[in-house]
Amino acid sequence: MRRRSVVSALLLSLGAGAAVPAAAADPATAPASAPAPAAAGPRPLGQVVPVPASVKAAGGPFTLAEDAAIHVPAGSPTATAVGRYLADILRPSTGYDLPLTTSTRRQGIVLALDGGADTGSEGYRLQSTPQAVVISAASTAGLFHGVQTLRQLLPAAVERDFLQLGPWTIAGGTITDRPRYAYRGAMLDVARHFHSVAQVERYIDQLALYKINRLHLHLTDDQGWRIAVSSRPRLTTLGGTTEVGGGQGGYYTKAEYQQLVQYAASRYMLVVPEIDMPGHTNAALASYAELNCDGVVRAPYTGTAVGFSSLCVAKAPTGAFVDDVIREVAAMTPGPYLHIGGDEARATSRVDYIAFMDRAQQVVARYGKTVIGWHQIAAAHLAPGVIAQYWGTKGDEEPVAAAARSGTRLIMSPANHAYLDMKYDEATPIGKTWAGYTEVRQSYDWDPASVVRGAPAASVMGVEAPLWSETVSESSDIEYLAFPRLPAIAEVGWSPAASHGWTSFQQRLAAQGPRWTALGIGYYPSPQVPWQFAY
Ligand code: ACM
Repeated sequence: MRRRSVVSALLLSLGAGAAVPAAAADPATAPASAPAPAAAGPRPLGQVVPVPASVKAAGGPFTLAEDAAIHVPAGSPTATAVGRYLADILRPSTGYDLPLTTSTRRQGIVLALDGGADTGSEGYRLQSTPQAVVISAASTAGLFHGVQTLRQLLPAAVERDFLQLGPWTIAGGTITDRPRYAYRGAMLDVARHFHSVAQVERYIDQLALYKINRLHLHLTDDQGWRIAVSSRPRLTTLGGTTEVGGGQGGYYTKAEYQQLVQYAASRYMLVVPEIDMPGHTNAALASYAELNCDGVVRAPYTGTAVGFSSLCVAKAPTGAFVDDVIREVAAMTPGPYLHIGGDEARATSRVDYIAFMDRAQQVVARYGKTVIGWHQIAAAHLAPGVIAQYWGTKGDEEPVAAAARSGTRLIMSPANHAYLDMKYDEATPIGKTWAGYTEVRQSYDWDPASVVRGAPAASVMGVEAPLWSETVSESSDIEYLAFPRLPAIAEVGWSPAASHGWTSFQQRLAAQGPRWTALGIGYYPSPQVPWQFAY
């Protein structure tokens, strides 16, 4: 109670109006369309990105009371951790204590593990009544995703890390939700520019809000090697010290990589490490002379051209190198996947490429992991279970379709829809253009099941939004390119195909703007979206 009066006093002293979002205050970045008026009362129950599979509005709203508790199931440390994560989000802005309790009263916020819920391994049900908001799921992953929906149903000011004016009200009804695809990824290129553990953790938190569950780290490229390999120390002491444009680079120690893996796991996200081979390897070729066919160490490279480097496929030291690297990276990665690249190997002969990829698949299998490769890997002899990541723009690559018909599974990252490093338009200050300007509607309007002609829809295991970092070094760069397009791709990966619709998405996306502002995310205010600025 004492706390409440402090809240009121503070809000009065702040003028209670909550901060004006930067995007609204700056006419240079405001879109041409008029901002939508602030919604009165709680937002509609379905105003969530990605849109839930089923939404049924019913009954009166729920309002979070000052003395509410967060109820968690007894005997589940992981569900308790989800409750703690939710409390950490809600406490600073509401000013409420929100204690965790295992009391079974259905009042306040309730997280319930319910094996009978028909929501699969990641789905959840959210029921909102005047007494309680109950999130039930068969798994703690489902509870975590339900918590993201709960966040989005509350006013955007809830994301602020200082006291805000309520009320904290959620419309009445029931959401029943589960993902379309099991693999919903985002990739960050930490090789062209190194990104610190703190930067990656910040991005992980942002991805979690949109139910992304795979974080693909592009750990090696011509311009830098970013992961410690004990048996090959020069990869990082030398190969880790460069980046595009001549900056100092950097790399993750094994402990730092483990920290990232654990942080991602706490957000129900698996890390997928990528060691890109046999091309995109100048940083390795600059670190170890024996990997070059001529035995001469390469000069470090800080430019942005691609396709000039190759491991010397036929040499024995290359085989030993690949074994060492895959063994160590597999050992520090609890997730099932190991990405071996395979793109743009223009300095490797076709015969060598096939020989290399055939062998690399065996090495990954020997260390207990499932291979992912960029879709050029379809030129090799694909072992059962191997996954190809499609990054083309035309969908006419017959070897990829043929592999899919033979059982290879596909991750969809069509560059003209899913690449977050493409510029939005000619005025975008960072990014690239080779796959075309990519406005948010272009990121949204595609169907993973029909990207590659002749590939069975059932071969598609999901989507991924890659963010290459030739032009990206700061978190603000990441956020400007990822928002609003990342949520578009997240919806394509999560929501039922039948729910796809630009008009609905556009309105729901518009309501995310104040949330991003509250979270300190400097997004691109696309003129395609009628942004809301009010909380
Ligand atoms: C890629 O964009 N080279 C996979």
